[in-house]
Amino acid sequence: MIDKFIRVNQAGETAAVTIYKGQMAVLGGDPELRELLTHMRDQEVVHLDIMDKHIVDYRVRPTLLQPVAAIGGYILGVVSAMLGTKSAMTCTEAVETRIGMHYNDQLRDLHLLKHEQLEELKKTIAKCRDEELEHLDTAVDHGARMAPLYKMQFEFIKNGCSVAIWLCQRI
Ligand SMILES: [Fe+2]
Ligand SMILES: [Fe+2]
Repeated sequence: MIDKFIRVNQAGETAAVTIYKGQMAVLGGDPELRELLTHMRDQEVVHLDIMDKHIVDYRVRPTLLQPVAAIGGYILGVVSAMLGTKSAMTCTEAVETRIGMHYNDQLRDLHLLKHEQLEELKKTIAKCRDEELEHLDTAVDHGARMAPLYKMQFEFIKNGCSVAIWLCQRI
């Protein structure tokens, strides 16, 4: 179970970093957006560092889909940003909604296990979860829900995340 958790989390944080990089490549010309995206990207880089460390500490095999996560994230970032700032924010809201649920599911399972060694893992997952939910709020504050075809974009990306989570846990 721990293997699965760490494997999928590393892939997810890899994609998170590249989503923001992709969005920045398109929208980075605007100073306000650049600052916002840089802040969120920097937090994702810290999350990824944490997950990379877990991979080593718990001797977990990374998913074979790591390169797919990186490239897929970048493409999602670029395409969502090309649809406009609000669609970029819809993308962030959808991704962070799904990832917030994902981390909460993991925390619920981990709380059932009483082992000293798992305390750090619980703490870091909770920290990541809190920051993902901040990103979600930031996206909503920046017009995520005013994007054209908001509901469709939101559901499409959120369901895509569910498929990616399922795959990365198993492959
Ligand atoms: Fe993250
Ligand atoms: Fe995030």
